[in-house]
Amino acid sequence: MRIDIITCLPKLLESPFSDSILMRAQKKGLVTIEVHDLRAYATDKHQRVDDYAYGGGAGMVLMVEPIANCIRSLQADRHYDEIIYMSPDGEPFVQRTANELSLKENIMILCGHYKGVDERIREKFITREISIGDYVLSGGELAAAVVTDAVVRLLPNVLSDETSALTDSFQDGLLAPPVYTRPAEFEGLKVPEILLSGHEQKIENWRFEQAQKRTRERRPDLLSD
Ligand code: ADE
Repeated sequence: MRIDIITCLPKLLESPFSDSILMRAQKKGLVTIEVHDLRAYATDKHQRVDDYAYGGGAGMVLMVEPIANCIRSLQADRHYDEIIYMSPDGEPFVQRTANELSLKENIMILCGHYKGVDERIREKFITREISIGDYVLSGGELAAAVVTDAVVRLLPNVLSDETSALTDSFQDGLLAPPVYTRPAEFEGLKVPEILLSGHEQKIENWRFEQAQKRTRERRPDLLSD
């Protein structure tokens, strides 16, 4: 899979992909993540990528030409299955969205900034708009990093134990059950006996019950869908 991210603040995306699971996935050749600096596609000598909004009002708007130039130059090399715009106006990002995107070959992600992008970019190029929650971030970069992380960890062979993505919270519509590791007792708090019993089937049943209980208590909305 390949993910191309377009941003006017590439520095913000230097570290999220340079450690741990995402770094290893890139080194193993399972995903290519490229960050593109919008300024390199600016049309004036000052490398300007934003301008005042027509009609007035506070805040700058990302200009059409640099974004169109960048998108077209990427499209010249390959077909993109989705061109995503990160925005609080987008569809809510949920596990199902990550599952869907993980099946695509090439995706492009455009990060907004300031007051966002000129509307004509959305009309002409964007195939999908995604929000990571009902709050406003200062730009789409952190949201793009969230989406990239959630998608890449689902790719085959990215996680060392492939089943572990399948037992994530949300993957079966439930929150994950509690987990424990050594020691078996900490300051009087004991690990549930069943987990030490070695009975695989009983442990599986216990985990399922705990997942249901946790979901009922914390996120009953997940059970009503
Ligand atoms: N850009 C600014 N806020 C955002 C959000 N909540 N989700 C996605 N992109 C954003």
